[in-house]
Amino acid sequence: MSAPTLDRPVPDETALQQQFDATIAADHRIEPRDWMPEGYRKGLIRQIAQHAHSEIIGMQPEGDWLLAAPSLRRKAILLAKVQDEAGHGLYLYSAAETLGADRADLTDKLIERKQKYSSIFNYPTLTYADVGVIGWLVDGAAICNQVPLCRSSYGPYARAMIRVCKEESFHQRQGYELLMTMMRGTDAQRAMVQDSVDRWWWPSLMMFGPPDDDSPNSAQSMAWGVKRHTNDELRQRFVDMSVPQAEVLGVTLPDPELALDPETGRYRFGAIDWSEFKQVLAGNGPCNDERIARRRAARDDNAWVTEAATAYADKHAAVSA
Ligand SMILES: [Fe+2]
Ligand SMILES: [Fe+2]
Repeated sequence: MSAPTLDRPVPDETALQQQFDATIAADHRIEPRDWMPEGYRKGLIRQIAQHAHSEIIGMQPEGDWLLAAPSLRRKAILLAKVQDEAGHGLYLYSAAETLGADRADLTDKLIERKQKYSSIFNYPTLTYADVGVIGWLVDGAAICNQVPLCRSSYGPYARAMIRVCKEESFHQRQGYELLMTMMRGTDAQRAMVQDSVDRWWWPSLMMFGPPDDDSPNSAQSMAWGVKRHTNDELRQRFVDMSVPQAEVLGVTLPDPELALDPETGRYRFGAIDWSEFKQVLAGNGPCNDERIARRRAARDDNAWVTEAATAYADKHAAVSA
């Protein structure tokens, strides 16, 4: 009898690729230990990191209002929301780690501007109405983007999105409820809400990314089941959802071309200023420098906590060894 061999046959790359393709075609999930093409892994790390960075940077514009919330109730709501965003960032960094990325490295890439985050968070929050409008429109756009990601082909990303979306729904509602309250208030409060809607509407539409014919990664991402709908489809869905909500609220969306198309039942809307989007993405938005500087300070000022925790863990490991 021959001795059992420990050598397992190494499946060839073609067989692995076929297995991967079959998993995607069957709409099953790819899990961390499964073989995956390098492009799939890299593309996912890029997308998940960008998403994680957006959650963490997104804490800043609203966090600016925590000390100036108009009541204890509003402060408690805003604090819960901003903390949720921190949690979203952490789930997403963890999902990126299952692909072999390193969280500290991702943070460095964000600070060195080698990885992006959503352009929307480079705009300033000038009044408390902005807290409401961000909840209504920005978190509303995030929901449109993220609900289909619950069916993303990569298991850890899809599962993270299920909890994230439940919390985003609270974010959207608290924003809308705040705006409804302000609209029932004084003329000055109503004017504040309208001014905020005027400033955030177009940047919210840009959150869905460039138009489909100018979105280089979209087709591959759709083929791999990471993305389920194109940028333009999601943008249209967001417009169709938001127009009736604006009517109930009693605000005017700042687009004279916005009109219901009776044939399709969908809203037509005006041209988006993509040059502004590109400028903001290139680092020239109103708050890009401030956002990155604060993230850098958070990393540097808190480095001693990481060092102390690491030293403590090492000491424990040495004692139990
Ligand atoms: Fe979030
Ligand atoms: Fe949110």
